[in-house]
Amino acid sequence: MKEIAFIERETLKVKPDPASLGFGKYFTDYMFEMDYHSEKGWHNPRIIPYEPLTLEPAAMVFHYGQAIFEGLKAYRAADGTIQLFRPEKNLQRLNASCERLCIPPIDEDFLLHAIKQLIVTEKDWVPNEEGTSLYIRPLIFATESYLGVRPAHEYKLLIILSPSGAYYGNQLNPVKIYVEEHYVRAVVGGVGHVKTAGNYAASLKAQKEAEANGYAQILWLDAKENKYVEEVGSMNIFFKINGEVVTPRLNGSILPGITRDSVIELLKYWNIPIREAKISIEEIFAAQTRGELEEVFGAGTAAVISPIGELNWKGRAITINDNQIGKLSQRVYDELTGIQLGKKEDRFGWVSTCYSPHFVK
Ligand code: COI
Repeated sequence: MKEIAFIERETLKVKPDPASLGFGKYFTDYMFEMDYHSEKGWHNPRIIPYEPLTLEPAAMVFHYGQAIFEGLKAYRAADGTIQLFRPEKNLQRLNASCERLCIPPIDEDFLLHAIKQLIVTEKDWVPNEEGTSLYIRPLIFATESYLGVRPAHEYKLLIILSPSGAYYGNQLNPVKIYVEEHYVRAVVGGVGHVKTAGNYAASLKAQKEAEANGYAQILWLDAKENKYVEEVGSMNIFFKINGEVVTPRLNGSILPGITRDSVIELLKYWNIPIREAKISIEEIFAAQTRGELEEVFGAGTAAVISPIGELNWKGRAITINDNQIGKLSQRVYDELTGIQLGKKEDRFGWVSTCYSPHFVK
């Protein structure tokens, strides 16, 4: 493994009050940085003080948008152990994003080692209050100064850390979601299935309009027929209809969420019928009319499990499960967070330890 250099900072920051963390507002003392040059490959890995960057105004990321990222979390178990949840999946997806955006691939084993080393350096920043974790944001962007349109020859990879609580105000409070009819997020053949910054930029206008009408987020429909359910802005979506759970099948424009995959695995293990399918929004509203739409919830790293209490499509608002947390949503949430926090058996081998107080003098 390449040696990771360390540059120490003079003074450490004052840590925020864990009760007021919110999501993505605070950043730790250090970050990981590594550069790419077409002649040197990925080089100069280092852990350095978290600080502003200096970039050329002509840096290609500002013009042609080669920017990708990932999101994962470090959790503190009751005995002080710090663990990651399926980090290798995030690194595989980071490389899938690299491939689609013509960014040179990274060595997944090395990057996992770098994440663990950064977390050990920042172990005091991993919060232990209920519902909190240290959010890990790896990102890669084009730094070459050039205005011709082609893949850049130079990039920067950073990993920044943010102690965080719930993404939506109160973790399990059901949220209201607006089903978008005018704007689209992604098309098959485009970049919707990878984690590139532009997907989020494309979602902002619809998100802003939904928020102005009291909705937490958008549920996106397919771009071609404006008919089939895709995903919510920051999470995948599950519907429980008459005892069966359905989630949109990955079709090339939906993000293959790691929490999504974990929920499917859990449901299979519990023998709860689960189907990945092309689902129209009409079917969902028809199921509600028949009284068969039992629960709807979102699943994502930042959002964890987020019950959905209302869906509004073309001005018709439906309430789901009396706007209460559903039994299945609660069970999935308890199981996932239980595994992540080391309270429940890790029968799928999803947890990866990066620091244990028992190994330290
Ligand atoms: C995550 O769940 O980690 C995400 O990347 C969603 C986000 C854009 C907040």
